[in-house]
Amino acid sequence: MTERIDDIEKAAGTLRAGGLVAFPTETVYGLGANAEDAAAVSRIFQVKGRPPSHPLIVHIGGAAQLDDWVEDVPETARLLAERFWPGPLTLVLRRSRRVPYEATGGLETVAVRVPDHPVALALLAAFGGGVTAPSANRFGNVSPTAADHVRAELGDAVDFVLDGGLCAVGVESTIVDVTGEAPSILRPGGVTREDLEAALGRPLAVPSTSGVRVPGQHPSHYAPRARVVLVEPERVVAEAEVAQRQGRRVGVFLPPSLAGAPVEAHAAVAVPGSMDAYARGLYGFLRELDQRGCELIIASLPREEGLGLAIANRLRRAAGPRPERL
Ligand code: TXA
Ligand code: MG
Repeated sequence: MTERIDDIEKAAGTLRAGGLVAFPTETVYGLGANAEDAAAVSRIFQVKGRPPSHPLIVHIGGAAQLDDWVEDVPETARLLAERFWPGPLTLVLRRSRRVPYEATGGLETVAVRVPDHPVALALLAAFGGGVTAPSANRFGNVSPTAADHVRAELGDAVDFVLDGGLCAVGVESTIVDVTGEAPSILRPGGVTREDLEAALGRPLAVPSTSGVRVPGQHPSHYAPRARVVLVEPERVVAEAEVAQRQGRRVGVFLPPSLAGAPVEAHAAVAVPGSMDAYARGLYGFLRELDQRGCELIIASLPREEGLGLAIANRLRRAAGPRPERL
C-alpha cells in the first residue's frame, strides 16, 4: 500500500513537472498531462500521433470543481453530474479561460469528467488540478484496458505508468453535449442512453451510425491491425470459413447464440452474453486476435440497447474505411 501511495506521489510530481502519466480509469487507460500546461498538452498529441484539432477530456477530482473549468453550467449538467459522477460520463460545456486551446482543439467548449477509479481519483487529489487525457493509445488504434497495453504501445514515450489493473467498464465514457437547447449524445459509452433518459425524463438524440458528429472523429477508429468485417450473426461462421479457405488468417467473434459451435478459423473468441462482460472484454479481444496474427476479423453487432449501443459503435468504427492502412 505504501508503494501505491509513493507511486501516486511520483505520478503527481511528474504531472507538475510537465510530464505525461498514463493512468487507469474505469473505462480505459488515459494518457494524462496537466490541463493548464499547454506544452505538456501538446506533447500528448505528439505521442499519440493525434491531429491537434481533436479535443481532449479534462479529468477532475469531483463535481465541486466543475465551475473552475467551465462557464455557464446549465441545470441539466448539474443534474447529470450529480447522478453519474464519478462515472463514465463526459459533459461538454463552455470552456473557462483556465483551459488552454491546446486541450480543446481551438473550440470554445470543453469536455469534462470525474473518473470512477480509486487510482485516478487518488492521482487527481494528489495533483490538485485538472488532467487532460485521451485514451493512452496511438491515434486510431484500439484503446488500452490494461497497463501492459499502454506499455506495449507507448513504451518510453510516457514518463510514468500507474497500474490499476483491468478497466471495469472497458469502453470509453458517454459524451453528452449540454451546451445547446437539448442535450445530445455525441459518443455512446459506459453510461447507457436508457439511464441518461431516465435521469433527464426525456429522450436523447444519438449520433447516426455512420455519423461523424464529435469533432475529430474519423470513420476508422478503435481499430485493430486486422481488418474487421461485420456480418449478420448467423453468417459469422460461414463467412469466416470462406475467407479461411481462401488462405486468409481469420479471427472470429463467435456470438453467444453460436457458443461452442465448431468453426474452421485461425482463432476465435467467444463473445460473452452479458453486455457488461462484452464491453469489458471488447478491446482485449481485438488485441488478442491481432497478437495471434489474424488478418481479418469476422464479427456481428449486438443489439443496440444498453451497453450494446457503445459496443456496436466501436465495432462499426473498427470496421470503418482506413485507406492509409489497407
Ligand atoms: O472514457 C474516456 O472518455 C477516456 C478516459 C481516458 O477518460 N478518454 C477518451 O478520450 O476516450 P479520447 O480523447 O480518446 O476521446 C475524447 C473524445 C473525442 O472523440 C473528442 O472529439 C471528444 O471527446 N471531445 C473532447 N472535447 C470535446 C468538445 N469540446 N466537444 C465535442 N467533443 C469533444
Ligand atoms: Mg481514444
